[in-house]
Amino acid sequence: MLAMLAIDPDQLGEALENIILNAIQAMPEGGQLVIKSEVPGPKWVDVSFTDTGAGIPEENMRKLFEPLFTTRAKGIGLGLAITKTVLEEYGGTIKVQSEVSKGSTVTARLPIGGESQHRQD
Ligand SMILES: Nc1ncnc2c1ncn2[C@@H]1O[C@H](COP(=O)(O)OP(=O)(O)O)[C@@H](O)[C@H]1O
Ligand SMILES: [Mg+2]
Repeated sequence: MLAMLAIDPDQLGEALENIILNAIQAMPEGGQLVIKSEVPGPKWVDVSFTDTGAGIPEENMRKLFEPLFTTRAKGIGLGLAITKTVLEEYGGTIKVQSEVSKGSTVTARLPIGGESQHRQD
């Protein structure tokens, strides 16, 4: 099913790329990344990214979106902060479910159609 989203494609691309990059980095020895798109109701489209990587310890779950929070040696810690900001700018949300050493699912939810919150300067 196709859904119309009132979103700047470059910004959406960057937001989703950050999620994909994290998933890949969480699987240094390889694994599986499953990307699914679902329309759970008339108003939303969900895109979920499920990896079989390291997972996220409970104590880190609430820090994920803080700017400069990283657990990686060469991490910068801006990826998820940017992704959350972009999604919320368009009226969307981001959700993370994870189990240590099993993997993580990051779900981006965006409003279909709807008014864009984005200013067209
Ligand atoms: N899919 C994932 N699996 C495991 N940990 C993750 C995943 N996505 C994010 N994280 C954790 O969240 C932290 C912050 O991610 P991010 O904001 O993209 O910054 P960075 O990638 O620079 O570390 C990562 O350092 C990692 O600890
Ligand atoms: Mg990142």
